[in-house]
Amino acid sequence: MLCSLSQARSLRLVLICFIGISFCPQRSFPLSLSSPSPPPGASTSPRKKHQQRVKPIPYVATTSTVEHSRCLTQYLREGDKVLELGTQLDASSTNILNAIGSTGHATLVDVKRTETKSGRTSQGTRDRDKFLANDGATNYKFIELEQFSNWRMVLDANQDSPFDVMVLDATAMLGNDLELTALSVISEFVDDCLRRNHRPRAVVVKSKAISSLARRVVHAQRLMDGTVERNLKSRSRDGRPYIVTSVGVEEYRRTIPHVVQQGDKIVEVGCFSGVTTALLHAAASPGGCIGCDIGPKIIERAKKEHPDMEFFVGDAWKSLDLLRMKSRSNLQGAPGDLDGYDVIYADIGGLSGPDGTLESLSLLNGLGYALEPRCVVIKSLCMRRLASSLRAYSDDWEKGNRNRDGKFAAHK
Ligand SMILES: C[S@@+](CC[C@H](N)C(=O)[O-])C[C@H]1O[C@@H](n2cnc3c(N)ncnc32)[C@H](O)[C@@H]1O
Repeated sequence: MLCSLSQARSLRLVLICFIGISFCPQRSFPLSLSSPSPPPGASTSPRKKHQQRVKPIPYVATTSTVEHSRCLTQYLREGDKVLELGTQLDASSTNILNAIGSTGHATLVDVKRTETKSGRTSQGTRDRDKFLANDGATNYKFIELEQFSNWRMVLDANQDSPFDVMVLDATAMLGNDLELTALSVISEFVDDCLRRNHRPRAVVVKSKAISSLARRVVHAQRLMDGTVERNLKSRSRDGRPYIVTSVGVEEYRRTIPHVVQQGDKIVEVGCFSGVTTALLHAAASPGGCIGCDIGPKIIERAKKEHPDMEFFVGDAWKSLDLLRMKSRSNLQGAPGDLDGYDVIYADIGGLSGPDGTLESLSLLNGLGYALEPRCVVIKSLCMRRLASSLRAYSDDWEKGNRNRDGKFAAHK
């Protein structure tokens, strides 16, 4: 059957969309490798494989020195092999050495720092000579790297006996508390371990940015079954958007009552024929939802199927265009209204490839900073896996210290 060029193009877009809905690659970005392949010889009928879900590797984020110390005590065990990246040779390193005992071993790694005139390092806290001279412990090795990127050599050097836990002080190691860089280090570490058929037990990361992300990333399934409680109808503590991670269009749509409130102004990016957009529009009334898709033919179809709603051709990555769309729509408030959207639903497919997590986070950051939504709901397997792993230690601590009546017990 012959078809015109434009028909072929729209067929391609429909195919892309279908692939986006139907296929979720199992082997993907390391961050998402919470279900590594079973050991050789294990029985692997698809059904059994599904039932024997491997528990996700926890990535625990801490913010303060006190929190970090508590967390290390909780997650480390005697005999562990630990990699501490960005070591300050301070209380954190001492805690690690104490927790793993004489049968464990720690590799403490940092980049070389220049000393100031006062003899302190540029970080101002590390007193390397004191640590190295005083502790007398033999269960560690200290490595100073010429440059940060060389940290991978430490993994290569430990091929035969990989690490059980990685501890990363993001600010000290990376010089800046940037979530994407810290997450890519974590993913490289986890991926390297899994490639060697070794499953690390945990990653502990001291980072305000990762901790904020951990508090804001919400696993849609856990939200719906009540395991996780978040009030997505008001802003997060630090004002940055909540990110609800869903898998499959059904679950994506089932988030609506948990996220949307009357009066919300919403955009769905990757709206296809507008089925979800219509549900969002109804839930947000007297506010509303507009739909946006990169495919002109798709938008024509959406307009035909939902003549009373507004749809626009646009690219999810072009945040300014998404803002312009609002100003051309019925969602626009008073003249000069520069507000973004209350909620964004994003379902653009293609975010489950090898770099799916970092791509999704870049998209989410772009949308978050430009449009300042209260909440973004994203359909992405990689982000969902990240949500399964990532947790803020402060949340665990609060839960662990809450009495049965919901009040907080005094911290000891
Ligand atoms: C899985 S379909 C969306 C299904 C729809 N959200 C629903 O609930 O029925 C993915 C859509 O994303 C669109 N898309 C892909 N990349 C995009 C981009 N960069 N910006 C906007 N839309 C995009 C595709 O054209 C496709 O229609």
